[in-house]
Amino acid sequence: MTRTTTKHAARTGNVVEEIVPVHVWDWPVRLFHWSIVALVFLAVVTSYLGGDAKEWHMRAGYGVLAMVLFRVAWGFAGTRHARFASFLHGPRTAIRYARSFATRASPVSIGHNPLGGWSVIALLAALLVQAGTGLFANDDLLMEGPLVKFVSDALSDRITTFHHLNVWAIGILVGVHIAAVVSHWVVAKENLVRPMLTGRKRLHRSLEPEGLDKVPHVRAIALLAASAFTVWWIVARL
Ligand code: HEM
Ligand code: HEM
Repeated sequence: MTRTTTKHAARTGNVVEEIVPVHVWDWPVRLFHWSIVALVFLAVVTSYLGGDAKEWHMRAGYGVLAMVLFRVAWGFAGTRHARFASFLHGPRTAIRYARSFATRASPVSIGHNPLGGWSVIALLAALLVQAGTGLFANDDLLMEGPLVKFVSDALSDRITTFHHLNVWAIGILVGVHIAAVVSHWVVAKENLVRPMLTGRKRLHRSLEPEGLDKVPHVRAIALLAASAFTVWWIVARL
């Protein structure tokens, strides 16, 4: 793949370091990220509006469910930095990373850092629980999830309470997530948002081999379609 290498000379003593764009986040990870941001926003806003908005609440929730199912599959079948195995480390590594970050001596992470890896799992789990409980929730009036018919009214009410409570868990996780992105900017002078938009991180040339060679487009599209189909089947056929 041809890569435009914007050379950026940063002098450290006599050493001239070359910073080059390295392809880190494939398009499916970026598509997943920005679509869940939009869909979660839509689900939250529409949940507080009446009328037809409630329909859109459920649709946004189905979108979140499909995207999270896709991301879980992509965590096993995706490119290098998208794979869970590449960014899930034990608690000790995560704590060591947190300490080094606090003392501004943290190593450069090519994909998610050891602490961020756990926040990714927590966010995915919370979103899955939110969309999953939504399928069994009801508002005593107009709206009920498509799987309400499989549970008693009492259980649906309890699941609905959990659906409400879990919004707080998501709010806290997203708050911490955004605070972490901002602190990287302030403490480590590292812009993590641009790579989530463009796919490329500006890293030292020696790290170029860690970049992605090619993205399995067909596999990504097939998994996206399979995730969407699974949600459609749950909603319309189950
Ligand atoms: C509803 C709100 C949000 C949710 C649920 C969310 C969730 C996530 C998840 C699950 C990932 C992991 C991506 C992956 O590996 O597939 C991630 C990464 C990331 N998110 Fe968000 N996000 C939210 C909002 C935001 C916002 C508003 C920003 C920007 C200001 C942001 C910036 C980032 C960045 C920069 C990364 C990559 C972090 C890294 O380099 O390790 N996120 N987010
Ligand atoms: C990540 C996706 C989702 C988010 C962030 C979300 C968020 C919320 C919020 C904030 C409320 C509370 C509204 C209020 O207090 O009036 C709510 C209620 C509700 N949600 Fe979701 N939801 C999601 C997915 C779903 C899905 C997939 C369904 C069903 C298909 C669903 C069905 C419901 C129902 C029936 C209620 C009404 C409960 C009530 O008013 O007592 N939600 N949701």
